[in-house]
Amino acid sequence: MKEILIKGQLNKFKSFEEFVKEFQPDKRDLLFTNQFIYDEFAKPLNLQCQVLFQEKFGAGEPSEEMISKIFAAAPEDSYDRVIAAGGGAIMDIGKLLSLKRTGSIHQLFFKEAEVMRAKKLIAIPTTCGTGSEVTNISVAIVKDANGDTTKLGLVSDLLIPQEVCLIPQMLKTLPYKPFASSAIDALIHAVESYLSPARATMTSELYGVKAMELILEGFRRIGEQGPEVRLDYLEEFVTAACYAGIAFLQAGCATVHAMSFPLGGTYHVPHGESNYALFGKVLEKYNERKPEGKMGEFKKTIARILGGTEEEALGRLAELEEKILHLRPLREYGFEEKDIEVFAESVLENQQRLVVNSYVPLTKELIQEIYRECY
Ligand SMILES: NC(=O)c1ccc[n+]([C@@H]2O[C@H](COP(=O)([O-])OP(=O)(O)OC[C@H]3O[C@@H](n4cnc5c(N)ncnc54)[C@H](O)[C@@H]3O)[C@@H](O)[C@H]2O)c1
Ligand SMILES: [Fe+2]
Repeated sequence: MKEILIKGQLNKFKSFEEFVKEFQPDKRDLLFTNQFIYDEFAKPLNLQCQVLFQEKFGAGEPSEEMISKIFAAAPEDSYDRVIAAGGGAIMDIGKLLSLKRTGSIHQLFFKEAEVMRAKKLIAIPTTCGTGSEVTNISVAIVKDANGDTTKLGLVSDLLIPQEVCLIPQMLKTLPYKPFASSAIDALIHAVESYLSPARATMTSELYGVKAMELILEGFRRIGEQGPEVRLDYLEEFVTAACYAGIAFLQAGCATVHAMSFPLGGTYHVPHGESNYALFGKVLEKYNERKPEGKMGEFKKTIARILGGTEEEALGRLAELEEKILHLRPLREYGFEEKDIEVFAESVLENQQRLVVNSYVPLTKELIQEIYRECY
């Protein structure tokens, strides 16, 4: 077994000011972020670097169109380092901004253009979800060969940021809803990589379990004392999301992500929330088909963290998550009955890199059953 542990350098800072002291951004640096993050943390520091705000180029998660506009606004020869400070969307676009412009965004995502690194990338997560700061993936909303909209991941180790900067203080401004959906996304990364049948490694398991422990302890506190207690636990949440990213860099995500991508791409459901809508049902189906083995270990781990018996583990997990974010049926996001068939095809056609990591073989029938029961 061979594994790459962490490719970039991990840094933790108490404040954005500390980061600036260390990295000294100058006019050959491009800070890619949101205006509200800039105003709160960067503006008072009178930085000399170039600044671009994602929201000037469109709303929501990265799309081909949005990224193309951002490329046009940031000529390739105008900067040497990219500082991506934001949620997964910002970091994923930052990854693309660090590449040599070998083709269009569409060509990159459909493997018709080569991935080559051109700039140094510094990633600062301001949500506690994607782990994008340590992963080799950039996700965007694209049109597939049939003209249908979906989300695709561009995968290359050249996308792994060289510098990772965790600054828990920067999550203070994150409202509860995106906080909750990003934290659930991180939990799902930890679980999907833990159950990954072929690719799980010593470190993916270690980091995955630690991420589950930290996140579920945070959820327990929020469940008992309310959403505000998260503010005293932000360092643990941002660290856990990074750990979960390290776990899935090794072991990969699986069914939940594969099935949520058409949902997120078509109905613009926030990433963590669209995963959450499917997560409990996917675990239930895994457990029906193969309750022993790694699933048995997983239930033991959850029972150890949350209390109760192994048999109660999945139920207790769902109960705790409900206290964090209300589980809604897919129809409330705009999902229609005809999508059961169309999305199942899209999953098998576009998401094979995730489908292959499913804990049980992911057939079209099983995908349809899960969508139907979540509908
Ligand atoms: N590359 C990867 O490994 C990977 C993994 C999973 C998901 N993703 C992608 O990441 C994206 C989801 O990322 P996310 O969950 O971080 O959501 P996000 O980046 O869409 O951010 C969620 C919302 O929170 C806001 N926000 C972020 N930080 C804030 C802060 N500190 N204060 C106030 N508001 C803040 C954003 O502006 C946005 O409105 C999706 O596009 C998904 O496909 C990537
Ligand atoms: Fe995710």
